[in-house]
Amino acid sequence: MQCSRVLGIEGTAWSLSAAIVGWDKVYAEAAHPYVPETGGIHPMMAAQHHANYISQIIRQVLDSGYDFDGVAFSQGPGLGPCLRTVATAARALALAYEVPLIGVNHCVAHIEVGRWQTGCHDPVVLYVSGANSQVIAFRRGRYRVFGETLDIGIGNALDKFGRHLGLQHPGGPKIEALAKEGKNYIPLPYVVKGMDLSYSGMMSAAKEAATKYPKEDVCFSLQENAFAMLVEVTERALAHTGKNEVLIGGGVGANMRLQQMLDTMCRDRGAKFYAPARKFFGDNGAMIAYTGLLQLKYDQTIPVEASAVNPIYRTDEVEIPWL
Ligand code: ATP
Ligand code: FE2
Repeated sequence: MQCSRVLGIEGTAWSLSAAIVGWDKVYAEAAHPYVPETGGIHPMMAAQHHANYISQIIRQVLDSGYDFDGVAFSQGPGLGPCLRTVATAARALALAYEVPLIGVNHCVAHIEVGRWQTGCHDPVVLYVSGANSQVIAFRRGRYRVFGETLDIGIGNALDKFGRHLGLQHPGGPKIEALAKEGKNYIPLPYVVKGMDLSYSGMMSAAKEAATKYPKEDVCFSLQENAFAMLVEVTERALAHTGKNEVLIGGGVGANMRLQQMLDTMCRDRGAKFYAPARKFFGDNGAMIAYTGLLQLKYDQTIPVEASAVNPIYRTDEVEIPWL
């Protein structure tokens, strides 16, 4: 179908965000992030936050005056109470404006916004966020997961360690800043099993190291170690698939040291490294709206009666007809 714009809403975890996006650009956007006062993300409190602010952010994008041909929402994966709050708003909007409803996989949206923003075509994707650490590549109609974490996502690992140091959530960016001051590498467990990774042992060792060494050195070592694991698996996926582009996405992708390490690896192999602008790394409404636009073009819409959320929606469950 011919379509020009989609309104998308993201709300799988901390970010509550809406945007109206067309093929050429983001036409309107509004966000109201949930920031826990203490500790990590509490699912019920995040959902309550989303319920409190969703009408406000939707009103803001509607006030831009741009029309839209569909309403897209983050259907999963994510925190159940948050997903349900956002889905309810999306259904109401689709019914009120008499436009199709589009359920978007949050992980696929991280990939598609990166392809859109950077112009890369068929990359190996390193998708690194709070809950997820996956190395993904397109093959036979779907984004296949070539390797992933066997326990916690790299972002959650960084955030947990940050809380251990007394830093406010999210810890990732604060650890990046501390790591810049670090000088000495403290050996930490490096766990790559085939194409998969594990971070829990490294986290325990880092907490232990923080009792003996300066926190700057531990943050530095943690980043070097954790990111080297990710780069190793990404390189192996490049070699295996024969592709020559690497795209980074997800909140942790904003980390400049990780980007630098990937860029070096790509140069050494004759591949090209792609990173979108900073605002497209963390969860955002534009990535849901843009992926909704692609899905609408290929008639991937859902009736309201069959629009239940899926907290464990996998990247490789989605058919990708546009690649
Ligand atoms: P997903 O459902 O995709 O797992 P998410 O809810 O974790 O998404 P994102 O915005 O994709 O949300 O990622 C958030 C994570 O990114 C947090 O763990 C945060 O600490 C981490 N992060 C953000 N900026 C940086 C940075 N500069 N360095 C390292 N980590 C970062
Ligand atoms: Fe995300």
